[in-house]
Amino acid sequence: MQPTQVAVIGCGRIANEGHLPAYRTAAEAGLSILVGVCDVIPERAQQTARQYDTKAFESVEDMIAETRPEVVSITTMPSSHHHLTLHALNAGCHVLCEKPVAMDFSEAEEMVQAAERAGRLLSVCFEYRYWDESVYLYNRIAAGDLGPVHAVRTWGGSVYGFPTIASFHRQASAGRGVLDHWTIHNLDLALWLLGNPEPLTASAFCHQRLARYPAALGPSLNTIKPGTVDPEIEDFAMGFVRMEGGTVISVEANWLQPSVRTS
Ligand SMILES: NC(=O)c1ccc[n+]([C@@H]2O[C@H](COP(=O)([O-])OP(=O)(O)OC[C@H]3O[C@@H](n4cnc5c(N)ncnc54)[C@H](O)[C@@H]3O)[C@@H](O)[C@H]2O)c1
Repeated sequence: MQPTQVAVIGCGRIANEGHLPAYRTAAEAGLSILVGVCDVIPERAQQTARQYDTKAFESVEDMIAETRPEVVSITTMPSSHHHLTLHALNAGCHVLCEKPVAMDFSEAEEMVQAAERAGRLLSVCFEYRYWDESVYLYNRIAAGDLGPVHAVRTWGGSVYGFPTIASFHRQASAGRGVLDHWTIHNLDLALWLLGNPEPLTASAFCHQRLARYPAALGPSLNTIKPGTVDPEIEDFAMGFVRMEGGTVISVEANWLQPSVRTS
């Protein structure tokens, strides 16, 4: 089997902590070759390219035209997922796109339709599904070993962990806050474990404490100027989803979970 030719769009945190090390491991096993990396910040692309011994690009169009990857990872913020995915699919690539998949439902729907039209795979990075414990639980639930699941409780977030990267503070690039950028994993995992039943009703409350109670930043105080974060970026959310078949899911999302230890 020939190694799969892959390219990475966006050389930020998740590219360097997740996708690129994984592609390196796959390359060492003879499964993939990294043909290029791209970032709108040229120094970032160059530094990453040096580290992974590949070519650096500033433009996605140039990278795809020159390297003809079979698969691209899209590791940019959600505001660019839609147009980058459509471009890559139309160029014949399979796409692995970071979550949240898009800024809204209609963008996500168009991405799925474009993948179907192009006959290419579009996958979203919901890696919690691949954890050993998730697979174990999935199999036990599917086999009926645990009986019907009547309720799922999910929590996602971090202790005093409001992101400091500025693009996470802008609605125009991030979309929303902790629910979209973290707890979406927990919600996806819960739905997947349950076999994707239809939701019947959903209610939720979101708010941003940062603006009104900067002290909620705890030991991270001074890392973020509260007035610089768009009000749409929630740092707390609580929700309740009622599914067909009677199962309920409670969702709690918190980027500013207090800790008893403050030092
Ligand atoms: N799956 C996970 O567990 C996980 C973990 C962390 C982040 N993420 C997701 O990954 C995405 C990126 O997060 P991050 O923390 O890596 O952000 P980041 O800001 O560190 O990295 C994004 C990079 O993309 C580059 N970029 C932006 N637009 C571009 C374009 N059009 N072409 C090429 N490069 C472009 C930026 O310059 C930046 O270097 C977010 O949607 C986030 O929610 C997922």
